[in-house]
Amino acid sequence: MNNETSFEIFLNHHDEEAWSATLATLQRSIHEVDRNATQIWFAFYPLPLYRALEQADDRAKLAAQLLLLGDYELKNQIDTSHRFLYGHRFWPEVKKAIEQHADQSTEGGVGCGVSGVGTSVLHPTPNTQHPISSQTKVYATSLADQILELARAVAEESKVDESLLVGITAVAFMTVQQAGLLAFKRAPGAVKIDRKHAKKSPEQVLRERAKDDSQGLLGFLRTVNKQWTVTWDENDSRANYKLRELQDLAWGAASDQSRDWKAIDPRRVEGPIPVECRSASCGTCWVGVLGGAEKLADVGAREGKKIKEFGYIDTAEPKPVIRLACQAQAQGAVSIVIPPWNGQFGKYLRSLKEGDDQSLRAVSHPESEPKTETIQ
Ligand code: FES
Repeated sequence: MNNETSFEIFLNHHDEEAWSATLATLQRSIHEVDRNATQIWFAFYPLPLYRALEQADDRAKLAAQLLLLGDYELKNQIDTSHRFLYGHRFWPEVKKAIEQHADQSTEGGVGCGVSGVGTSVLHPTPNTQHPISSQTKVYATSLADQILELARAVAEESKVDESLLVGITAVAFMTVQQAGLLAFKRAPGAVKIDRKHAKKSPEQVLRERAKDDSQGLLGFLRTVNKQWTVTWDENDSRANYKLRELQDLAWGAASDQSRDWKAIDPRRVEGPIPVECRSASCGTCWVGVLGGAEKLADVGAREGKKIKEFGYIDTAEPKPVIRLACQAQAQGAVSIVIPPWNGQFGKYLRSLKEGDDQSLRAVSHPESEPKTETIQ
């Protein structure tokens, strides 16, 4: 029996394209302190991967096939996955507001109280010429509206800047979509950073991210001997290590023996960043760059090709917010965040998408010849 609420049904009408459009709409409303962080969070928890696992006949077999290691399921991390967003500080308020919104939506129909959202969202008029794009547009507009409206309501009640809540509210919507409303409600809704860090202002966090290490009085004469700090958890004062100019992020992390890394995460064989091949072949070492992306060397041809194959990011940007730590060389201090899992799923998801596109083409042009494609 399907026990999905109206709110969950509404959310489940949103695919990757609809979410991308939604995030593009929200981007300018998100405070600078959380702009990269929000983008990183959505890369860490990709909807198409979640859906592929949900729809698999044998979930464990597919997870093994995609070499998934670590904790990739949002339902296990409802209160913690977004600890690196500044907006995490307001998680209890945002979570409560979403639960109320979901209950009201269920009682009064999806999207009640949000202009332009109604039953047409649940039952859009089929458009035989451009079925996906027209639906995507309708859904994206209404989802972005709901996120903004909810962020505004929480901001007014909590007396904080609305822009600090937009990213975390979008995260909360996606968390409901992937974890389910019941599990979402069952999570305690706690703030998972200590008071000292929670008290920092967004400006202070931005200042700290922008700061570079002093190289001493004659620092301008130094070349390869320059040292840079890599912060890998902004909410832990001990979570940083040093590396030399043009060393890659993983190389520097390996010298950090301050904790029993394997006990914390078996993928961490040396230092805080999980590594395996050190040659852009395994995808173990992916990280998000919260601050200082511009101080990392450009993505090389191999890193760019492999990071897309792994499924982590698909972009031609030379300095994106997702990098392979074993390839990204530092030319300044950076702040990164380490995802709790890794895998190789890009090719598989593309093959699923190409299969779907072919089916849609067959529906739109039934007279055209079916094509045979190899799915790897
Ligand atoms: S350690 Fe294998 S890709 Fe970086």
